[in-house]
Amino acid sequence: MLAIVLGATLAWAPAAMAHAVVEEIVPSDGARLAQSPSEVRITFSETVQLLQPGDAQVVTATGESVTSGAAQVPPDNARQVVIPLEPRLAPGTYTVRWRVVSADGHIVPGASVFAVGDVPIGQPYLGGAGGASGPAETSPWAVGARWLELVGIGGLVALLLFRLLIWRAAWRPPPIIGGGSRDAALAWSRDAWWIGFGVLALVSLLGEACVLVVKTASATGVGILSALGDPAGIVRVLADTRFGSLLQIRTLALFALFAIGVWRFLAEYRTDRAPEPKDADGGTWQGVLMLAAGLVALGSISAQGHASVARLPVLQIPVDALHATCAAFWVGGLVMLAIWLLRLPRVAGEGGRTVGGIVLARFSQLALIAVALIVLTGVVRAFGEMNSPADLWQTSYGWTILVKIGLLAIASILAMRTRRVVTTLRRAGTPNTATLALIRRNAWVEIAVTLIIVMASSLLVAQVPPLS
Ligand code: HEM
Repeated sequence: MLAIVLGATLAWAPAAMAHAVVEEIVPSDGARLAQSPSEVRITFSETVQLLQPGDAQVVTATGESVTSGAAQVPPDNARQVVIPLEPRLAPGTYTVRWRVVSADGHIVPGASVFAVGDVPIGQPYLGGAGGASGPAETSPWAVGARWLELVGIGGLVALLLFRLLIWRAAWRPPPIIGGGSRDAALAWSRDAWWIGFGVLALVSLLGEACVLVVKTASATGVGILSALGDPAGIVRVLADTRFGSLLQIRTLALFALFAIGVWRFLAEYRTDRAPEPKDADGGTWQGVLMLAAGLVALGSISAQGHASVARLPVLQIPVDALHATCAAFWVGGLVMLAIWLLRLPRVAGEGGRTVGGIVLARFSQLALIAVALIVLTGVVRAFGEMNSPADLWQTSYGWTILVKIGLLAIASILAMRTRRVVTTLRRAGTPNTATLALIRRNAWVEIAVTLIIVMASSLLVAQVPPLS
């Protein structure tokens, strides 16, 4: 699984790095001009974007800007960047520096020099912020960090939803099973849930830390290790950027979630006894509060991304958050289902009502709704980021969406097979060991495919949408 995920990321990244090379620059690199030029024109091998006007500029040998206005990508040729210059440049060496975003989201930095007048050409001036380079948004570092963040926070949301919507329902009314088995199931589930919570809390914090360090490296134009050793740079990114403010909100929401979690943990382990069936969810109100904090954390990722600059942000941000929440419920729920089905007692008393059977049936029902919502919200998000359906096959962003749809089709075939088995089970009563093993196997393959979809999504959010 890990090999596939890493392979997919690395296979994408070099392709991104191979794009948007400079085809021509006027005045050319190393040119000595008798007369001062009025502009610099850089032509790339594919369409490019300027994130901010200062990302392409011309400076003197001491780093002073001689740009007379905002650098632009002309509307009639999106492969070019034009930098207007002050009139009558003084004799000397001038450095052209750029940092553009190519169509695949890769940040392409570069520099060239030219001289005005009868002077020898000096070294390019590469100091200051404009000369920097760092990991690209689509680099394995950036995609991996985002994946870890999504898995950590999405996993916490999934744990909370599972306990509130599925595990709680399995015990109301409680299935009639022997006291020993019942207590064992309730105690095991409580322990497994808290182990999962602890692990995912660590993963989410690690994910946040990685995202922050990688973003600092990209923004300040240094390597990951240098960014790690630059607390001032990290604080600058946290304090001075919109990304940093949202990351602070997210971390605050996570700590609120953990604080309520500690309170709930202490309450649940007050005695050595197994929980009563009515307390299977560990406390509904605490669960709801924790879920609210988790949704704020997940929603802040949506507020930070492309949805916030799409055509209708008021619609796109909640739609994106719903998309991510449903995805978290589906992927995280599958993992929990696979683990829970391994341990839950199969044998029930009256009417063949087993805890395993109820969990399976309820998850299957809710997962169907979640997948329908994922498709619906995914389509709304895709329309929000593209100009026309042709962008699907004409842009790298569109291709990533097509890959996601293809993987979703594979996961859906597996899900439909499982659903058929679940429907048959509902009629037949108690599931046998072989059937549960088959469902578990299917679930693990589905999990692998959906985690790759999440990896593709981590890449998607780093790519440049066709609309922008
Ligand atoms: C019809 C299928 C799907 C389509 C068309 C679709 C489309 C999209 C789009 C357009 C985005 C927004 C990317 C951006 O902000 O630039 C997105 C984000 C995302 N999608 Fe999907 N998606 C689909 C299925 C899935 C599935 C099956 C999963 C998970 C199992 C998933 C997980 C995610 C995640 C985690 C995000 C990131 C949310 C964020 O960080 O803001 N998607 N998707």
